[in-house]
Amino acid sequence: SSVSRDKATQEIPAYGCQRRTPLHHHNKEITDALEILALSASFQGSEARFLGFTRASSVLKSLPFRLQSVEEVKDLPWCGGHSQTVIQEILEDGVCREVETVKNSEHFQSMKALTSIFGVGIRTADKWYRDGVRSLSDLNNLGGKLTAEQKAGLLHYTDLQQSVTREEAGTVEQLIKGALQSFVPDVRVTMTGGFRRGKQEGHDVDFLITHPDEEALNGLLRKAVAWLDGKGSVLYYHVRARSQNFSGSNTMDGHETCYSIIALPNVCPEKPSPDAEKIEPDLDKNSLRNWKAVRVDLVVCPYSEYFYALLGWTGSKHFERELRRFSLHVKKMSLNSHGLFDIQKKCHHPATSEEEIFAHLGLPYVPPSERNA
Ligand code: GTP
Ligand code: MN
Ligand code: MN
Repeated sequence: SSVSRDKATQEIPAYGCQRRTPLHHHNKEITDALEILALSASFQGSEARFLGFTRASSVLKSLPFRLQSVEEVKDLPWCGGHSQTVIQEILEDGVCREVETVKNSEHFQSMKALTSIFGVGIRTADKWYRDGVRSLSDLNNLGGKLTAEQKAGLLHYTDLQQSVTREEAGTVEQLIKGALQSFVPDVRVTMTGGFRRGKQEGHDVDFLITHPDEEALNGLLRKAVAWLDGKGSVLYYHVRARSQNFSGSNTMDGHETCYSIIALPNVCPEKPSPDAEKIEPDLDKNSLRNWKAVRVDLVVCPYSEYFYALLGWTGSKHFERELRRFSLHVKKMSLNSHGLFDIQKKCHHPATSEEEIFAHLGLPYVPPSERNA
């Protein structure tokens, strides 16, 4: 009924970490539209507009019913004037003019293509755009100016554009565990990121690595990656060392991290059908190879920080942003993947579970599957 809907909208809290946000929800057409506008704002360097559209979209993802009228969002947090125009047009016409204009713009299309390359952020893409780069093929003229990461990203572009399935993520897990366990048999390896939130596919596979004995973790990541490399399974990797003088105010966390591209053996190599050559005359030997390039992130953390790192690497990105904002503004505490620091009491809060971290923050517990904010 409309009364219970009114009640539902009035009860939706303002911070994404105070809400339960399932993977699948009732207003995907609208949230897709708002996310296009958020992305476009980020391409234009407008953090405020990016956050505005992202927050509006995130609120609607937690709504337990399908919107029928723009009136229903009037009591919702973050769903202000501009978002309401988008919502109204989608509800009435099925499309939003502003979104269509953005999608058709050269800047948006180029930025989307360029930032989809591994190792290319908004700043780099924008610089390239201003230098006249419009598409991936224009990058060949830039050749020497690409970083090693970007070269690898371009080389494996087609594979990396394909999403990683849950089944493939499981195969990656076996591969990574095998490498780590050959050095430390009882090492603890947890799949984090989108797959831990219940996603069926992802743009990469994320893992968190820890052990009660900190000595066992020393040099482990580099040894395990070198071991995999020796077996021909590593296409690219970059290890970022643990930062010793990590300060809580940094946006980046200080854990040792490996950003990599792995050659994942096909579970059952696809035999090209006899007709394949007729359908695809350009079928080259590349499409007969029995591996697929997959992005893998590996993070190592000390045992004492494990649950903070687990919370920090499970996402979603917006859920994490909201958790940190809530901690700072509402609780005067600084949260990151290392721990939680009470700024007024000047003390740290150790945690032995994710539930405990939510309790420290005075938040109802949100399980990973409901963190798709
Ligand atoms: P897909 O990979 O696109 O399926 O979604 P995802 O949610 O797994 O995204 P992603 O792999 O980019 O990030 C997973 C989590 O790790 C998110 O919560 C991010 O905030 C976090 N994360 C990603 N990169 C970094 C990083 O460099 N440092 C820290 N501290 N966290 C990161
Ligand atoms: Mn991920
Ligand atoms: Mn990742």
